[in-house]
Amino acid sequence: MSEDYQRLLDSTIDHLQSLKARGTRFLSIETDTLALLQNVAPTRVAAPAPARPVAPERIFSAETPIIAPAAPVIVEIPIGPILSREEKEVAMAELRAKAMVCEKCPHLARTRKNVVFGVGDIHSPLMFVGEAPGADEDAQGEPFVGAAGQLLTKMIVAMGFTRDSVYIANILKCRPDTPGQTYGNRKPTPEEMNTCLPYVQTQIDIIKPKAIVGLGATAIEGFFGKGAGITRMRGKFLTYRGIPFMPTFHPAYLLRNQANTEKRKVWEDLLQVMETLGVTISDKQRGYFLKS
Ligand code: URA
Repeated sequence: MSEDYQRLLDSTIDHLQSLKARGTRFLSIETDTLALLQNVAPTRVAAPAPARPVAPERIFSAETPIIAPAAPVIVEIPIGPILSREEKEVAMAELRAKAMVCEKCPHLARTRKNVVFGVGDIHSPLMFVGEAPGADEDAQGEPFVGAAGQLLTKMIVAMGFTRDSVYIANILKCRPDTPGQTYGNRKPTPEEMNTCLPYVQTQIDIIKPKAIVGLGATAIEGFFGKGAGITRMRGKFLTYRGIPFMPTFHPAYLLRNQANTEKRKVWEDLLQVMETLGVTISDKQRGYFLKS
């Protein structure tokens, strides 16, 4: 399979997954096109490949049910989890092993204390993604353990989850270096995030959560490129790799701005995520941060 073909196939899969996440159940497709796709698709599911876990034949399978024989043919797209629990664990362990020795950014590999891969339940329906480890995370090898992380943990508990029952990761797996500085953090550059992006993309593909919460402007830019800005983008679901993706403010922002109005904005974003996950929401939870 040529690289161009593989790239085209990947974008088609992304597009189909995003349609499915937005509720599309059926797709119109010409009979000839369907026949062509069935010819190029391999005939059996390949062994799990972390970099591209969605095998094309899962989308255009030979058994794809044709719902309406009249033209245009309507095809239901069976996009679902394709890795068993064991396969997920193997795939994630392999990915972790690769990340732990990664030197794609030599300046970061030289200065890091630890690679901060990700933590939590890889079978969770809920994933949080931030930008990059800070000094605390670098020291402990775990994302979101500093002050912002402690607030994130409280937010997770308020949603009815525990830190262990969700998955937490960053786009960048190494702490951005701060040459000449003895304290403080710096934002990851777009180049650094781009270089590291395949790791978090593969984490998402392996976990296949039912919802992702993107924390802060930098993370949102890392995933979607420069957009309307977090203030305009937060609170509205996007789709990333076929998964509903909620952009919201970074917990560090809430530490700097402790107004209940700002906490309420983040909380409303999280309430939407809880609704998407189908978790029970109490009246008490619905009312958090309403009083100023
Ligand atoms: N901020 C992030 O975006 N990630 C962390 O892990 C810690 C702080």
